[in-house]
Amino acid sequence: MSSNQPATADKLPQHIAIIMDGNGRWAQARGKKRVFGHKAGMERAREMAEICGELGVKYLTLFAFSSENWNRPADEVSFLMELFATSLKNESKKLHKNNVQLKVIGDKAGFDKGLQKAIDKAEALTADNDGLTLYIAANYGGRWDILQASQKLLKSNEQITEANLSQYLATGDAPDPDLLIRTGGEKRISNFLLWQAAYSELYFSDALWPDFDSEHLKLALADYAQRQRRFGKTGEQVTG
Ligand code: FPP
Repeated sequence: MSSNQPATADKLPQHIAIIMDGNGRWAQARGKKRVFGHKAGMERAREMAEICGELGVKYLTLFAFSSENWNRPADEVSFLMELFATSLKNESKKLHKNNVQLKVIGDKAGFDKGLQKAIDKAEALTADNDGLTLYIAANYGGRWDILQASQKLLKSNEQITEANLSQYLATGDAPDPDLLIRTGGEKRISNFLLWQAAYSELYFSDALWPDFDSEHLKLALADYAQRQRRFGKTGEQVTG
């Protein structure tokens, strides 16, 4: 058993989604530029994927760049794009070795050709892996996702049902997230997996993302294990 195995492994979420917030504040608290925090945040994202894979979590979705993040100062946006491209190039072999399947979800057409190519290459390399599925949400918005799925559903001429629409969402291959974590102290969804999070358990941590280590994750998992998931039913119906 790995040392990262929590006491509550019987109630381990199959799919964890994370809004990685607080990189900028983490850097500023150290008298550094915001981008320094993004670099530390990237390291933390890599570590989180490793821990989740070891724990046996099947799906991890990380919110790396929202459709709205283009409005940040130009130098911060270009740093994030470069960090994304370099990380894809440097990390994909290791991810592959760890049996991780990487998928980038979001409007990829918004990225430059070099980054699109790096994404395609990393996705192709890891396509047949059956360990952790790691979704990186980049140029992603929940409303965009519902719109693009609706357009595909209309084109398909299938019946307009929840199940038919769900399959066209960017995370169509995965079950909805069981646990949605947001770090950095804010308590909002920020246009993340709007449809998919309908019944997710929400967990808000005050820790800034670069500080969110395996101990923080264990706390979140222990909290999740205490929750009674009712999906609209009564407590008696669920336990009885
Ligand atoms: C939010 O912190 C973080 C982001 C907008 C970017 C997240 C990016 C990373 C963690 C690095 C890249 C990761 C991958 C997987 C490619 P913030 O800047 O809003 O922090 P603040 O609220 O303190 O300003």
